[in-house]
Amino acid sequence: MISTMSPHTQRGKFITFEGLDGCGKSTQLEKVAAALRAENVLVVVTREPGGTPTGEKIRQLLLDTGTSALAPLSELALMFASRAQHIKEVIQPALAAGQVVLCDRFTDSTEAYQGGGRKLGSEAVLELHRILCGDLQPDLTILMDSDLAASVARARRRNQARVSAENDENRFEQESRAFFGRVRNVYLAIAAREPQRVAMVDARGTPEETHQQIMNAVRRKLKLVTKTA
Ligand code: TYD
Repeated sequence: MISTMSPHTQRGKFITFEGLDGCGKSTQLEKVAAALRAENVLVVVTREPGGTPTGEKIRQLLLDTGTSALAPLSELALMFASRAQHIKEVIQPALAAGQVVLCDRFTDSTEAYQGGGRKLGSEAVLELHRILCGDLQPDLTILMDSDLAASVARARRRNQARVSAENDENRFEQESRAFFGRVRNVYLAIAAREPQRVAMVDARGTPEETHQQIMNAVRRKLKLVTKTA
């Protein structure tokens, strides 16, 4: 174990996963969780929007195609409402207990999708992050860089196959190619601005190749001994 619950527990590590819809992010996150658990690391897997009972209700509202005419600023506020609850209820307690938190999307998503995609700009997002999230920064962000057209097509296929009366998460997938182009550009700008935090991973290879790249970055951050295959 890298941690215990003693009063001298070291703060855990906060690792976020980012990328376009359909880049394979969620699969990779699960693979990292399994690899770390196999080494007895205490891992919490969570996601945004969502991650708490309140957040999951907000997620449903945000992602459902039935949510029509949602103003971009309302969308922005709801993303942060989910996040503030998530930090208080899940992320901070886990970090305080010395655990490794693997989170599928965080504020970089808001900067890319609402700031870039919806054209609300980075400044508003970063300001809200300071006010509502205490400026909590991930220790490491894995940014999965993928082919735009292929990723979005994959996300659309996947979510359409999953549509049911109570579960429709297609609202963002319906956006245009120009929207996702702006999202990707903001992601690249974040990576250039914060190279210490953001590890760019080429997600165009096989899932195993991508996994190895991600594990190298995670091991460096967690200071785990590299296993030779
Ligand atoms: P996610 O479930 O990660 O979708 P996918 O598996 O397709 O990548 O995220 C749901 C959607 O929510 C995704 O289209 C991105 C969007 N999103 C934002 O627009 N802003 C945010 O702050 C977050 C966290 C997600």
